Amino acid sequence: MAQAQWWQRGIFYQVYPRSFQDTNDDGIGDLDGIRVRLDYLVGLGIDAVWISPIFPSPMADFGYDVADYRGIDPMFGDFSAFDRLIEEAHARRLKIVLDFVPNHTSDQHPWFVESRASRDNPRRDWYIWRDPAPDGGPPNNWMSNFGGPAWTHDPASGQYYYHAFLTQQPDLNWRNPQVRAAMHDVLRFWMARGVDGFRVDVIWHLMKDADFRDNPPNPEYGPGDPDIRRFLQTHSTDQPDVHSIIAELRGVIDEYDDRVLIGEIYLPIDRLVTYYGENLGGAHLPFNFQLIHAGWSAPRLAELIAEYDAALPEGGWPNWVLGNHDQSRIASRIGARRSRVAAMLLLTLRGTPTMYYGDEIGMENVPIATEDAQDPWEKNEPGLGLGRDPQRTPMQWDTSPNAGFTNGRPWLPLAADSATRNVAVQLEQPASLLGLYRELIALRRAHPVLHAGTYRKITALGDVLVFLRESAEECVLVALNLAGTAQDEIPLPPGTYGRVLLSTGRDREERVEGHLSLRPHEGVIVALDARS
Ligand code: NOJ
Repeated sequence: MAQAQWWQRGIFYQVYPRSFQDTNDDGIGDLDGIRVRLDYLVGLGIDAVWISPIFPSPMADFGYDVADYRGIDPMFGDFSAFDRLIEEAHARRLKIVLDFVPNHTSDQHPWFVESRASRDNPRRDWYIWRDPAPDGGPPNNWMSNFGGPAWTHDPASGQYYYHAFLTQQPDLNWRNPQVRAAMHDVLRFWMARGVDGFRVDVIWHLMKDADFRDNPPNPEYGPGDPDIRRFLQTHSTDQPDVHSIIAELRGVIDEYDDRVLIGEIYLPIDRLVTYYGENLGGAHLPFNFQLIHAGWSAPRLAELIAEYDAALPEGGWPNWVLGNHDQSRIASRIGARRSRVAAMLLLTLRGTPTMYYGDEIGMENVPIATEDAQDPWEKNEPGLGLGRDPQRTPMQWDTSPNAGFTNGRPWLPLAADSATRNVAVQLEQPASLLGLYRELIALRRAHPVLHAGTYRKITALGDVLVFLRESAEECVLVALNLAGTAQDEIPLPPGTYGRVLLSTGRDREERVEGHLSLRPHEGVIVALDARS
């Protein structure tokens, strides 16, 4: 492989800024909080921090409703805090990636205020306005991702505007060249300020069907499903012409050295990989969320790894994600013991891993009483288990009040076990999940085969997944027991000799000859002897 780029070699770590570290006692995390925790991130061994939105916002969707693309919300700090964060991160060789939210703005954004002012306002066409259907209802059947119709009526002008998410998040009209130019300048603004790249929010939403045709019904929709599942998103997302829009974004990214473009995309593998773009001119890393939805079985995991690998375009760089601020936490999805094996999987697969803050200490979803719900999705469609507050609770740092997150009243409650499950406690215990993560990351650094080598499946039978990572220089075998029962004498390919580099229990170093036994929920990494 040619010299790998930093975003190919490295590991991304997502910070949800409201919940990472508060330094001004308002109960909400801030930029100074991220800065004072940089040494923790260096110790963990990650390479790049992706920060969810920090821009001025009414916070209807906690920052994913941007009211000014070129500012910092005072809740998070100011430009001097931002510049200091960039400077101190770069001094530690950490990259900083921001969230870019181009699909929609806040309804408080001056562009939208102008757009809704009148039908002939110069910014009218910056958003998506349509006449009512003949019966006076919404122009088509498209639903909002957060429940209810995706169209809101504006009595003053008699038209509807489109919002794929909240009423307070009107969609921009990316067919308008002025919108595209303005948003390109936003990217330049932040890159000139030192930002190393962007994670682009709902990038597959940017273009909609030019004729706004109705979406077809979803035959799999059932009671208890969110509104958004009533119809297939055939005409509202993933349109062929989105790729030229993304290629333009990439062109802007490429005006600056060494920046990265990451796309948030929830699509099946065959559609997902189209977001690498023609001649790889799209996103560098279209986020691969397959592990989030995968069943925890060896054949299933092996199958999706193979399917993804086979679908990648020539030269397309893979990536893997275990969790984010929209998804149930990995420790809650599959359980604490399995999440150790999941950590080993994430950090030994071929491709860039992205971690979600707190997963490295095994943070779980924190139950939030209905009356305490903050997430607008939970408020709009209550009781369906859609709320995202449980996975956004404050980082658990130490045994002090509020686990060291804040001296104020935290915006979401701390987990009940935060006094025992926290960074300070786990740093003292080599066998803790944090200890395991640190070791896995250190191994990935020490053994380039783990980021650059090829992947070859050896076994995916029952509960055991065994694969090889190979390069001209070294060969590493990874064996994962996904079950709670021991697996004795797993046969390995003839001539397999080596040494255990790491077990998820952090207590094995023996030589391996021809076969391997695994304890319940154990994974091991074996360095194979050089072939003569
Ligand atoms: C995806 C983001 O990850 C999510 O948190 C947000 O609510 C929607 N996009 C809308 O911006």
